[in-house]
Amino acid sequence: MKKLIVGISGADGLQMGIRLLELLRDLPHVETHLVTTPNAARMLPCVCGMELRQVRELADYCYDPRNTEAAIASGSFQTDGMIVAPCSMRTLAAIAAGLSDNLLTRAADVCIKERRKTVLLTRETPLSLIHIRNMESVTAAGCVVLPPVLTFYSGAQTARDMVDHILGKALLQYDITLPGFRAWEGK
Ligand SMILES: Cc1cc2nc3c(=O)[nH]c(=O)nc-3n(C[C@H](O)[C@H](O)[C@H](O)COP(=O)(O)O)c2cc1C
Repeated sequence: MKKLIVGISGADGLQMGIRLLELLRDLPHVETHLVTTPNAARMLPCVCGMELRQVRELADYCYDPRNTEAAIASGSFQTDGMIVAPCSMRTLAAIAAGLSDNLLTRAADVCIKERRKTVLLTRETPLSLIHIRNMESVTAAGCVVLPPVLTFYSGAQTARDMVDHILGKALLQYDITLPGFRAWEGK
């Protein structure tokens, strides 16, 4: 059984976090622990037509971002790491600075200090030097910065295919292979 923390912050591409939860729900050997930022919760209805309540139903466990006493706030609660999808530049900056200013950034701080895999689907374009420096900082601290860039070699036909492919790539970091994930096999 794997235990994955899923963080959803308020960048464009909230659909990626939702889709990640949907895909993981179908994997009986993966337990999901969801934390969303207040900004993500506010954006959900207008961007995705979904309420936070509906997104929370997709996860095994959910946490209030203000609850910094939750299980995932402590390194003694063992997990296999965390995926933040999408990861806004604000959340990236808070993680890079070790702010722990809400439960999402605290959970990331814990994963980093415990040397657990922390994958950030950083979403912004174009990037400023500030963003790039924050990406450098978190990479130096052991995170995997995995921006959701477009993928064509996988044969993706739709935006959904591209999202599934990037999420499949993110999950490979945890030795989880999504059914239907198309790796490049060479010619
Ligand atoms: C429609 C919309 C799209 C946004 N897209 C992005 C984005 O792609 N990347 C980003 O860093 N911020 C984006 N923002 C700004 C964030 O929502 C804002 O910086 C917020 O403070 C992030 O807070 P959080 O990281 O605590 O969720 C967007 C805001 C809106 C309203």
